[in-house]
Amino acid sequence: MSAAHDTVDKEGNAVSSPVQALVLVGGKGTRLRPLTLSAPKPMLPTAGTPFLTHLLSRIREAGITDVVLGTSYQAHVFADHYGDGSALGLNLSYITEDVPLGTGGGIRNVYDALTADTILVFNGDVLGGTDIRDVLETHQSSGAEVTLHLVRVGDPRAFGCVPTDANGRVTAFLEKTQDPPTNQINAGTYVFQRSVIGEIPAGRPVSVEREVFPSILAQGRHIQAHVDDAYWRDMGTPEDFVRGSADLVRGIAPSAALAKPCGESLVLDGADVARDAVLIGGTVVGRGARIGSGARLDGAVVFDGASVEAGAVVERSIVGFDAVVGSHALVRDTVIGDRAVVGARCELLRGARVWPGVEIPDNGIRFSTDV
Ligand code: GTP
Repeated sequence: MSAAHDTVDKEGNAVSSPVQALVLVGGKGTRLRPLTLSAPKPMLPTAGTPFLTHLLSRIREAGITDVVLGTSYQAHVFADHYGDGSALGLNLSYITEDVPLGTGGGIRNVYDALTADTILVFNGDVLGGTDIRDVLETHQSSGAEVTLHLVRVGDPRAFGCVPTDANGRVTAFLEKTQDPPTNQINAGTYVFQRSVIGEIPAGRPVSVEREVFPSILAQGRHIQAHVDDAYWRDMGTPEDFVRGSADLVRGIAPSAALAKPCGESLVLDGADVARDAVLIGGTVVGRGARIGSGARLDGAVVFDGASVEAGAVVERSIVGFDAVVGSHALVRDTVIGDRAVVGARCELLRGARVWPGVEIPDNGIRFSTDV
């Protein structure tokens, strides 16, 4: 689909947009399987809406209306849901890679459709609280060719680590190191001058983290950092997805897509929750889901149409679309695929993943010998 990149002023006249946004949403989301077998990661429901809607609302809130989605895996799902983006106040277009080109290749692939000089690029799986306008301001005032948003974290070892000099200029880009020299990590939001995107090799997979940034630095060119301590979470793993969802519900993670924080739980339209069920820890109960008597859900994400039967306990886990957790089952730190059935009194713990449609009989898996 071709991209239309004009925005409209208050009188409805087309004006050239000074900043465009590109959101990379083409990844397969392997770490979130089996949930990502049926939906791309950015479209998984998070606090009542596809995750991507939270990010798009943040972009709109920063005054940017012209947004391109760089799609590949299950590309049609995005267009089917968002269309031209007008429901969110956006002018949305789609550029699809037939074969996934990686993060750098995905950025290069949209080059011909870009018209603005300044391009904001987002990984489509980041939940963040930073004001995007501040990142743009840092880019514009420093005169850099590229600006990276960095956040300070407690343990940077699992992330791309980015040291800077006294002027906030990036000095190195170190992917996942055991001995990080700084706690500043790549937050997955970048500002590019459009011309730099044109320099990325075309037509082959390229990693922006492993190839593009190190190559720009090796040439002695200027990459600026925008560093802050705002809320930030990469939603790529079940642990982070569960935490991020709960943080949205509790108002710890800000989102313009949620009218207001909901407290300890969010129960969506048409859900049926027994009066004596306990919903805490930022639990979400999806549309049409059913929660039985005495069930206890703590930090649970229950997708639409799923059931948690009487007396079951679900902690820090995701229950897929139309899945069933049987009575008195214990489900902790687990992902249950769509339409799977976990039998009564089963125990699923510590990273278990039940594949879609699988049926585990009553008492079928236990970690204890009680009956
Ligand atoms: P994992 O397989 O679990 O690592 O997830 P992923 O495929 O989403 O990869 P990763 O988390 O590293 O991707 C970061 C962001 O870039 C996500 O928003 C992805 O959708 C996006 N992305 C990753 N690879 C590609 C690609 O080849 N093309 C496009 N357009 N986007 C990509």
